[in-house]
Amino acid sequence: MVYRVSGARSVFLSLLFVLYIPSFAMPQEPSNDAIERRIDALLGQMTVEEKAGQLTLLDGINPRIPDLVKQGLAGSIINAYGAERANSIQRIAMEQSRLKIPLIFGYDVIHGYRTIFPLPLASAGSFDPEMIERSERVAAKESTAAGVKWVFAPMVDIARDPRWGRIVEGAGEDPYLGSVVAVARVRGFQGDSMADPQSVVACVKHFAAYGAAEGGRDYNTVDISEQLLREVYLSPFHAAVSAGVGTLMSAFNDLNGVPATANRHLLTGILRDEWKFDGLVVSDYDAVRELIDHGVAGDRPEAALKAITAGTDVDMVDGVYASLPQLVQSGKLPMSVLDEAVRRVLRVKIRAGLFEHPYADPSREKTDLLTAENRQVSRQMAQESIVLLKNEGNLLPLDRHVKSLAVIGPLADDKATQLGSWAAQGQAKDAITPLEGIRSKTGNTPIFFAEGVTLDSLVPRKEATTILAAPAPSTAVGAPGISVNRGPTSIRDAVNAAKKADVAVLVLGEPANMTGEASSRATFDFPGEQQELLQAIVAVGKPVVLVLESGRPLDIRWANDHVPAIIQAWYLGTEAGNALADVLFGEVSPSARLPLSWPRFVGQVPVYYNHKSTGRPTSADRWHTGYQYESMEPLFPFGYGLTYTTFKYSNLKILTPTVSPTGRLRVTADIQNAGERPAVEVVQLYVHDRVAPTSRPVRELKGFTRVALAPGESKTVEFSVRANDLGSYDPDMHWIVPSGTYDVWVAPNAITGIPGTFQMLGH
Ligand code: NOJ
Repeated sequence: MVYRVSGARSVFLSLLFVLYIPSFAMPQEPSNDAIERRIDALLGQMTVEEKAGQLTLLDGINPRIPDLVKQGLAGSIINAYGAERANSIQRIAMEQSRLKIPLIFGYDVIHGYRTIFPLPLASAGSFDPEMIERSERVAAKESTAAGVKWVFAPMVDIARDPRWGRIVEGAGEDPYLGSVVAVARVRGFQGDSMADPQSVVACVKHFAAYGAAEGGRDYNTVDISEQLLREVYLSPFHAAVSAGVGTLMSAFNDLNGVPATANRHLLTGILRDEWKFDGLVVSDYDAVRELIDHGVAGDRPEAALKAITAGTDVDMVDGVYASLPQLVQSGKLPMSVLDEAVRRVLRVKIRAGLFEHPYADPSREKTDLLTAENRQVSRQMAQESIVLLKNEGNLLPLDRHVKSLAVIGPLADDKATQLGSWAAQGQAKDAITPLEGIRSKTGNTPIFFAEGVTLDSLVPRKEATTILAAPAPSTAVGAPGISVNRGPTSIRDAVNAAKKADVAVLVLGEPANMTGEASSRATFDFPGEQQELLQAIVAVGKPVVLVLESGRPLDIRWANDHVPAIIQAWYLGTEAGNALADVLFGEVSPSARLPLSWPRFVGQVPVYYNHKSTGRPTSADRWHTGYQYESMEPLFPFGYGLTYTTFKYSNLKILTPTVSPTGRLRVTADIQNAGERPAVEVVQLYVHDRVAPTSRPVRELKGFTRVALAPGESKTVEFSVRANDLGSYDPDMHWIVPSGTYDVWVAPNAITGIPGTFQMLGH
């Protein structure tokens, strides 16, 4: 076996030991008097139509853009990327419109603009906010080079239901991890100032609780308690607002009987009155008009009135806010409400520096996209996003001098799959596939490649009629040393490939278009005949490494029982294949963790670690919560992930056995690398309040840190958490810090760890 720690991409080079306890305190640029006076002056000159125009966002495909912009009837544009294109539209606003108010150009930069990063769920699993921030900084630089000043990201929706296709766009199930990641992304996008020509204005979405859609069906109803809303679903939004995010997007869903886009309690009561947010809220695409379909507005003017009164400032693409002038004239809408919405839009534009720098620099678009440096950041983020789920007998890392390899599966050499869903201007041709990444590591080692089943056959699922189809004629093409079976492909071809090789790497999962928006699923089965392919390859008897590329946890119970090594790779972006090969061959030890609980089977959903105890906590006894014949435990818990070494946790010390509610909890533990390879451990801190006015989750994540340790090395990790962050809402929705005994664990995942206790004092 060969093992190397070499080059700049090794995570072990970072010996800096950083404990990331976020303060969420990047101050928002103040809404100072000068800004407000400038807004007053503009408002004083605007007609009611021009005011409605500032609240109107057009789609880049709208043929009326030049005309509407010239008349001052549009304030922002989505999907008009490309510096020249954006500038040409901006020129109309700046030279031909009466008041010369710049437009702001928005775009969905979900995981990169041209250099594509791992999907957000994957990068959240790095538990590395600094690396995530760096990734979004790259995305901001590329976006602004292409004329995009406003990104509809990050999505910070907590999701406990992997049936929901958009779970892949967020940070998973946990409100604390979700908050840390949200802040990192906002910082990366906005930099030190939104006015920096290389910064974008971020937009946290979808406000709120979109991830709690009933049945995991996209756009579906959400009906949850105020406590669950506040303690779980709102947490990342609150953190992002405290960190100075410029904008929010309201969600499509109905929330407790009032669609989010018309939900005054949410958009004004919580967001503006409680959290003091003074940026703008944009609706989701067509969501103002959809208030009619929700059945809370009878027509377009009523939809407009409800949305703006609730606190939705900008109407995305449906043109419904064209009725605002008539609503003012008829006396239904106070001018002051319209003015306040326009004020928020102008405030964001001023803070973003658009009045001073309305145009993108087109030369940057030629030099700043997909640079070697950007690809390198993407590769490191991808390395850190790979989760090792199983590694029996230390099959991994593979010896790069292995005599021969089979690389098998419909996703193993598909470039588009590597980018994943919603890849902005990412181009499949730029992506490195697993086959290519493995090839570039293994020199002249013979590689036998076979898709086994075709990508096209994966959607929709076809019933498997034959497991071993008749062998198809195989054509050996491709790079030297790779035998490729393309065109007609069969499981038989793949079996033959596996028979010829010492080790088989099997890349299976979901095509990218089975994940993301409008891509909910009712099962977690491998699409198509991939399960049959898997079983046929395992039957060959060679060591098998299963690499999963998917936007959700799949049902891998059979694989977990029969395959020695399993990697969850999600979708890793432009550098996917290289990053994967770095891990497969041990240049980098895997370090990512699951940002969600991995269900055994779909019927367990929702399954999440921070559930309540119930009056009849789980036990073997039948009359306790659970299923009659099935486990209620996930296959792998939140926070789980293996490395190429083992770590020992010891010596938990509660430095503060009693904690004042205005003080801090301080805890240390020793973490030792007890194996033979350097690796990074994600050390996690969990807390449980034993008795409180409202029932508390059995555990809650309250801190984490990545610790790089050489073989044999030991470090003392310290966590310091504000007591206030250990509190909860009482039944009247007041934030309190209950006194009494709390459990605490320093742990490698959500179900194990070294336990201790401390006392919280009363006020
Ligand atoms: C709908 C999606 O829900 C939202 O996330 C996205 O930003 C908008 N479409 C604009 O593309």
